[in-house]
Amino acid sequence: MMASIRSCISAILLGVHVPTALGATHAAANLLVSHYNGNLYSLSFTQSGATGQLAVKQTVKAGGSMPSWLTLDSDSGNLWVTDESTYGSPVLTQLQVASDGTMKVTGTMKSNGGEVHSALYGGSDGKGFIATAEYDPSSISTWKLPVGSSNAQSLQKLTFTMSGKGPVASRQDKPHPHSVFPDPTGKYLLSPDLGADLIRIFSIDASSGKLTACTAANTGGGDGPRHGAFWAPKAGSTDGAMLYIVNELGNSVSAWKVSYPSGGCLALTKTQTVSAYPSGKSAPSGSKSAEVHVAGNFVYAVNRNDKSFGSTSDSVATYSIEPASGAIVFVEATNAYTYYPRTFQINKAGDLVAFGGQTSSTVAIVQRNVTSGRLGAQIANLLVGTRGSAGNEDGLSAVIWDE
Ligand SMILES: *[C@@H]1O[C@H](CO)[C@@H](O)[C@H](O)[C@H]1NC(C)=O
Repeated sequence: MMASIRSCISAILLGVHVPTALGATHAAANLLVSHYNGNLYSLSFTQSGATGQLAVKQTVKAGGSMPSWLTLDSDSGNLWVTDESTYGSPVLTQLQVASDGTMKVTGTMKSNGGEVHSALYGGSDGKGFIATAEYDPSSISTWKLPVGSSNAQSLQKLTFTMSGKGPVASRQDKPHPHSVFPDPTGKYLLSPDLGADLIRIFSIDASSGKLTACTAANTGGGDGPRHGAFWAPKAGSTDGAMLYIVNELGNSVSAWKVSYPSGGCLALTKTQTVSAYPSGKSAPSGSKSAEVHVAGNFVYAVNRNDKSFGSTSDSVATYSIEPASGAIVFVEATNAYTYYPRTFQINKAGDLVAFGGQTSSTVAIVQRNVTSGRLGAQIANLLVGTRGSAGNEDGLSAVIWDE
């Protein structure tokens, strides 16, 4: 909200909000970045037609020793940062993002460690609590917001176990919840578990923030589900709703039909699993799909370390969604202009995509055609912080638009 108001104001002041053949020209936008080096960065982005510029506006040492993910409430400007470290004193950090994109820490508390992702849920507005996925500790923790007292305890820490290893034994040694996100009704919290080949489902008690386990959905063996994104044919309705899950180990996207049986929990039925690579091409050894997003009737999934466009340029897969069925069709693989793209986000206008390369430690801004869904040219690229090394937990961890 704040960001869209301020973009409008700056566009009016600069008088450059003129649609061009390549899409609307943006006067300015801000992005936020987390880096495993222990820093957060505020970036400014300016665009003029088909060219753009990124610059680091602010560097803040915050988010613990391994800042891993960013969750922004654009209405309030509150930002939460998870810390992946499992040693020392891992923390959950809350910051306030000012209208110029600069950040200030407003609260830090001890976390349970190993956090790789977070989501707001519950309360009267869906923002009363935060849930965190803890990859190595095999757990999900929940916290009441705001982050204030440094010694606050988690409301719940749900730790999962497995009776044996999964089909990909090296990665599926134990449960590894990789993300958490609420469903479109705000009544359920979902968590793809890479280690257990499950999509865990919890019902939410909005006032207490308490999670209660429902029956989880089983993915294909060895899929290693990581992240998910919901879609529905009609905004504001769950009729025909689908969930698209990116499978890190399977290098694919699965489509799941979402239903709400009366008297039960949210239920998922898998309808499809489609490769994250064009037909005839299999995932190169050592590649791993990472994140999935939906915009309009399109799904996007990024692949890390597939080197489809050069030794340090990985691919992004575009799928179209058939509105009547929610089925997905692979459209094309295009350049994500980053190496090890762990993170990406499409802006609200839908005409720009920010890719974050973990190992390249770069942010790339790429054009998107809102009508065809196709991704186009890179219009800006910036090295942020120190470059990472292939296969290690270093480099850039997340990038989001501040809007
Ligand atoms: C965007 O896609 C539409 C539909 O395919 C096409 O007509 C239009 O020319 C494209 N715009 C640009 C700028 O490429």
